[in-house]
Amino acid sequence: MNPDHYCVFGNPIAHSKSPLIHATFALQTGEAIVYERRLAPLDGFVLAARSFAAEGGKGANVTVPFKLDACALATELTPRAKAAGAVNTLRFDGDAILGDNTDGAGLVADILRNAGVAIAGKRVLLLGAGGAARGVVLPLLEQGPLELFIANRTVATAAALVVQFADALAHPEQLRAGGFEQPEGVFDIVINATSASLAGDLPPVPVTVFGSQTLALDMMYGAQPTVFMDFAAQHGAQVRDGLGMLVEQAAEAFYVWRGVRPDTQDLLAQLRNAL
Ligand code: ATR
Repeated sequence: MNPDHYCVFGNPIAHSKSPLIHATFALQTGEAIVYERRLAPLDGFVLAARSFAAEGGKGANVTVPFKLDACALATELTPRAKAAGAVNTLRFDGDAILGDNTDGAGLVADILRNAGVAIAGKRVLLLGAGGAARGVVLPLLEQGPLELFIANRTVATAAALVVQFADALAHPEQLRAGGFEQPEGVFDIVINATSASLAGDLPPVPVTVFGSQTLALDMMYGAQPTVFMDFAAQHGAQVRDGLGMLVEQAAEAFYVWRGVRPDTQDLLAQLRNAL
């Protein structure tokens, strides 16, 4: 049987773990797919994606800096992609191009299944209001948290997200926005969706947001803990990086393409060991 072709578009793309992740899923599930990296020129994503589809490609993952371009390219968007305003998964169905966003589902799956922490009824603090934060708001709200507080350096951007998601709320107090100094009391889950870790910076949240039962998760990952993870651990929180989210968003994309949900535990451990 001829395998179906998939790829990941990005720029840069050389260090993407997606080919290894999807090759592992394919082996595990017996799905006949091949998956490659494709470097698209910074001004050439649409052409690259259309060419891949014309070659018979069945779908693609999309990473930095093309998630907005992919959103514009799609002829149909899932509700979660619409809410995120960005697309990380494309499925080519004849002339139709489905745009989806599996980042939020990946984060939620990592928190629920891998960390074993419930979101329903909990206080959740989301740090950041850029693309990464916006992509996870709806999937987090769908879990029914008691409260989701979005804190950002630029408060107006966080406030705009509260307006955007007002219709998805169980009650108006469920979603609030403010500056980093504003959150009061201990939160059950604190998620760093800022890009501050890249510069070795720390969102200046009060240390009182962390307790011994708090899960502090940074969407970034690397061989070493991020400054945010070190800070949260120093103040007693349980910490977690973004590697689990990476694997889970890939599993969700695999499901969108193949209708089969791969197991992620062994792969996550393998990737962790290789960091
Ligand atoms: P991404 O797609 O990774 O979310 P982005 O849309 O550029 O990237 O958003 C970056 C986020 O990190 C924003 O919330 C940004 O805050 P502002 O909205 O105030 O710009 C936040 N951020 C970036 N650098 C930061 C820093 N050094 N300290 C705190 N927040 C930072």
